Amino acid sequence: MAPAGEDHTPRLEAWLAALMADTPRHAKFLNTLALLEHLGSRKIMLSQSGPAMPLAALQHLAEETGHAFFFRRAAEALLVAQPPKPARAFDWSPRHTMAPQAGAMYLARLEALVVRLVGLTPPALPYLYTSALVEVRALWFFHLYQRVLKQQGAALNLKKIIGEEDGHLMDMTFALHQLDRDFSQRFETLKAGEARAFAKLLPKVMEG
Ligand SMILES: [Fe+2]
Ligand SMILES: [Fe+2]
Repeated sequence: MAPAGEDHTPRLEAWLAALMADTPRHAKFLNTLALLEHLGSRKIMLSQSGPAMPLAALQHLAEETGHAFFFRRAAEALLVAQPPKPARAFDWSPRHTMAPQAGAMYLARLEALVVRLVGLTPPALPYLYTSALVEVRALWFFHLYQRVLKQQGAALNLKKIIGEEDGHLMDMTFALHQLDRDFSQRFETLKAGEARAFAKLLPKVMEG
């Protein structure tokens, strides 16, 4: 399933290839991905942890938290592997992340978009739609990034993460099909909105 809107693939591939030649900046980008995964997992934790929390939500939370850990560890490993620079611990401050506020804003925009279109009931709907939108974009991006990593002969491999995001998207769309008979049409509308939010985020990350 492809995201809606402009195809940013060529521009982003060229940007990533250039980024990888600059190890400290590449590490900062990896830490930015870690932050986005962390913000996503935090939203799952806040919205889903209640008496009715199903196994699928618990798995989703565990895996997104794992993705944040994976990217933070990869960011720090890149710097450690680059002597003579000393190992440096990352955090979420603007010094160590690219456009962190724009990333948070992107997620907030998606939530607002979803609530405006589908409302808050049944309670699982906003979570499922927001997650599905994120997964479509994440899968598009991780496939693209994986291609560039391979072309550049990098050690980093995103296969496990791609497999997990794929599983999440399948879980979300399956549940949405059951809960909402207007799913297909609403999801197209939401994907168009996501594309507008992503078009605002991308240049900020690229400059960050
Ligand atoms: Fe993720
Ligand atoms: Fe995911």
